[in-house]
Order: sequence, then C-alpha cells, then structure tokens
Amino acid sequence: MSDNKNLPENSAKNNQENSVHENDANTTGHEWDGIREYNIGAPRWWLIVWIICIIWGVGYWFFYPAIPNAHGSNQGALKWSKYSQLEESQQEITEKKAVHLEKISRLSFQEIQQDQQLMEFALNGGKSAFRENCSACHGQGAQGAKGYPNLNDDDWLWGGKIEDIYQTLLYGIRSGHDKARANQMPSFGLDKVLKKDEINSTIEYVLSLSSKTQQTSNAINLGETIFKNNCVACHGVDAKGNQKLGAPNLTDAIWLYGNNKEDLYQTIYFARAGVMPFWQNRLDDNTIKQLALYVHSLGGGIK
Ligand code: HEC
Ligand code: HEC
Repeated sequence: MSDNKNLPENSAKNNQENSVHENDANTTGHEWDGIREYNIGAPRWWLIVWIICIIWGVGYWFFYPAIPNAHGSNQGALKWSKYSQLEESQQEITEKKAVHLEKISRLSFQEIQQDQQLMEFALNGGKSAFRENCSACHGQGAQGAKGYPNLNDDDWLWGGKIEDIYQTLLYGIRSGHDKARANQMPSFGLDKVLKKDEINSTIEYVLSLSSKTQQTSNAINLGETIFKNNCVACHGVDAKGNQKLGAPNLTDAIWLYGNNKEDLYQTIYFARAGVMPFWQNRLDDNTIKQLALYVHSLGGGIK
C-alpha cells in the first residue's frame, strides 16, 4: 500500500491539501460565504504615497488656514488669505504702473509716442479718464453734440497738435482760468451792429461757402460785403477760421451749432461762447498728459 503514495490521484490530493494549508496561513481567518480575506500588506508604493499625503496634510494644516473657529478659521503660519494675495498682486500692478507714470511725467509727448508700450498704457489711461470726466459733454465715443465739438474728426477750433490739446485741457476755454483760451464773437444782432436782413444776407453768404454748387444772388453778394467788413478779423478772408482765436472754419460742412437758418441766425445775432472747464489742479498733470495723447490719437490732429 506504500506504493499508493506515488499514484497520480494521491499526489494531486496532497497538492490540494498543501494549497489549502498555504491559503489558510495567508488569510486573516475571516470568511464570508466561502470567500476568505488574504492577509497581505498594502503595496509599498501605495504606502509611500499615503505617508507623503499625511505629511503634506499636516504641513498644510500648519501653514494654511484649515481649522475652523468662531471667526472663520485659524490663520496658519503663512498668514495667507485671499485678501493678502490680492494685496500682493495689486502691489505688483501699482509698482508696474509707477514705472510708466514716472516716464510719462518725465518724457516729452514725442518721446512717449515713440515708446509703444508706454503709449498703450497712456492711451488706456486717457480713455478711462475721458469716460469719467469728459464723456458727459463730448459723448462716450467723443463724437460730440450740438455745442460740444466732435473730437474724432480732424477739425479743430483751437488746434489739434498734442501741445494745443494739452493747453486746451490745462486751462479750458472761456473757463474763468487766467490762462484760458478766450475769444468772443460779438453779438451782431443784440449789439445792433447788423440789422435783421443784413444778418439774413450774411447767412446766405456763409451757407454758400460750404455749398457744393456755385451760387450767386444779391443776398449772397451783400452778405459777402458784410462778412468782409465784420467777420474776417477772426474767421479769415477765406473764412477758413483761425485756431489762435478759436474761430471755426466756415467753409467745411462741419457745424458746431448747426447750419439751418434758425441756428445760424442765433449764432450771429447772440453769438456763441462755448465753455470748456479747465482741468489743471482738478486732474493731476500725468492724467492730463494721458488725456491729451488719447484725444490726439482720436482726431489724427495734424492741423
Ligand atoms: C462741461 C462740458 C465739457 C466737459 C466736461 C469737457 N468739455 Fe471739452 N469742450 C466743451 C466745449 C463746449 C468745447 C468747445 C468750446 C468752444 O466752443 O470753443 C470743448 C472743447 C474741447 C476741446 C477743443 C476742441 C477743438 O476743436 O479745439 C478739446 C480737445 C476738449 N474739449 C477735450 C475735453 C476733454 C479731454 C475733456 C475731459 C477731461 C473735456 N473736454 C471735458 C465742453 C466740455
Ligand atoms: C472776434 C472774433 C469773431 C468775429 C469778428 C466773428 N466771429 Fe464768428 N465765431 C467766433 C468764434 C470764437 C466762434 C466759436 C464760438 C464757440 O465755439 O462757441 C465763432 C463761431 C461762428 C459760427 C458758428 C460755426 C459753427 O460751426 O457752428 C458762425 C456761423 C460764425 N461764427 C459766423 C460769423 C459771422 C457771420 C461773423 C461776422 C458777421 C462772425 N462770425 C464774426 C469769432 C468771431
């Protein structure tokens, strides 16, 4: 019977018994419906990651706000907060701005225009200052309105070079500032310089200047004479205006106060005196420079 040991069925049976035995050794002894739980440790890599996570977690607790308390949470060793972070990034922006602002104060308009980055900064600053201070009168897009000049066209009452615009902004127009641009058209009707029909003839002449068709009439001829006698000192012999005096060009089709006969009658009878406030001491010089650059960039301003 000792031969039996070597029989294939027996060795298979032995093996089975062995493996059952081995499995017993590697289980926790828990068993549910024949399913047994191996007693094998977690993989090493997993353990390492887990331990790192714990250390990181404890560190996070220590450095950052993590423990809730009555006022929100603890501060953490780094005293980090959204506000402190915001302050930091704002400080960074302020520092960058300070560099640009310093340059704008120091450099001439021409030098600023040559520095593309600086120019971009100045135009942005000018644009937002314009929206805040100027758009109430000149419109959001600087398009103007009756009595308030359009600043986008290249038609200027007082000059469109940057220096001209800068001066207009600093001191204003009929603003009451000592250095304000001030020139007053006489009230030809009110002051009894011209009679009603003389004014009407002058209107015919003024309208003929910007008309595309060549017109002649007695009224126009009479108007021309009246114009030569009363108006050329400011508007010029060719009626193209004079920027030193703020006298508009009357030959273009751009009208500050309108070109229907009623408007023109009002203009010549009472005269107009548009008031633009001065900005010196109201805005800092840096902002005024940025505004001058911005307005100049709108209008092309070569004239
Ligand atoms: C209270 C209304 C008012 C405000 C605010 C105002 N303006 Fe004016 N502005 C005027 C009027 C009116 C004139 C035209 C004056 C005239 O008839 O000569 C004028 C003229 C100008 C001119 C001269 C245009 C030319 O053709 O020569 C410039 C440039 C100008 N304004 C820019 C600005 C800027 C930039 C601001 C903001 C900082 C501003 N204005 C704010 C009313 C205003
Ligand atoms: C002392 C200078 C002066 C004299 C003289 C003068 N003007 Fe003017 N005129 C001006 C000024 C300055 C303005 C701009 C007023 C303003 O911007 O508010 C103006 C504006 C006008 C306008 C408005 C233009 C527009 O775009 O709406 C008309 C039209 C005009 N003048 C016609 C005349 C006529 C016609 C005479 C002669 C009868 C005359 N002016 C004489 C200085 C003068």
